[in-house]
Amino acid sequence: MKSVDILVKEHDNILAFLGTVNNACLYVIEGQEPDTGDFRKMIDFVRTYADGHHHGKEEKFLFDHMIKELGKIGKNLITHGMMVEHDLGRLYMSDLEKALDSYDEKPSTQAKLGIVANAAGYASLLERHIEKENTLVFRYAQKNLSKESIEKVNEDSDRFEEKALADGVVDKYMALLEEMTTKYSR
Ligand SMILES: [Fe+2]
Ligand SMILES: [Fe+2]
Repeated sequence: MKSVDILVKEHDNILAFLGTVNNACLYVIEGQEPDTGDFRKMIDFVRTYADGHHHGKEEKFLFDHMIKELGKIGKNLITHGMMVEHDLGRLYMSDLEKALDSYDEKPSTQAKLGIVANAAGYASLLERHIEKENTLVFRYAQKNLSKESIEKVNEDSDRFEEKALADGVVDKYMALLEEMTTKYSR
C-alpha cells in the first residue's frame, strides 16, 4: 500500500530526529546550557513535519477509514490509542515551549528540568507510538480495509504529498533533520 510505505519512510525520518532530541537532552544533563533556539527548531519540526505533515495524513486519510470501516477494534485502536498519543505529543510540545520561555526569561534548574523532561518524554512517547504503528496498526489496516478504501487513501495521500512537495515542506524539514544530526550526534 503506497500511502503506508510513505508513512513508514517518514517514521524513519522522525526516529532519526528523535535521536537528535535525545542527544540534545543528554548534553544538557551533562552540564551544557540548553540552546533554546535549537529546541524551538525541534518544536517546529514536530509541529509541522511529524504532526502536521505525517499525523495529518494518518488522521485525515488512513485512520479515518479505519474508524469508519473496521468496527469496534478499529475504533478503539485509533480513537482510544493512536489519536490519544498524538494529543499527548502535542501536550509535551506546549509544555516544552513553556519551559523554554521560562528559561529564556530567567535561566533556572527548574526550567532546565522542564526542557529535558518534556523533550525526552516526547521522544520516548513517539518511539513507542511508531513501533505500534509499524508492527500492528498499519498491518491491520492493510489486511482489513476494503480495496476501495485502500485506493481512496492512496489517492488522497498522493494529492497531499504533491502539495507538500510543491510547498517545500518536505525539503525544509529534511534540511533541518540534517542540521540537527550534524549538531547533535554522539
Ligand atoms: Fe501516529
Ligand atoms: Fe505515524
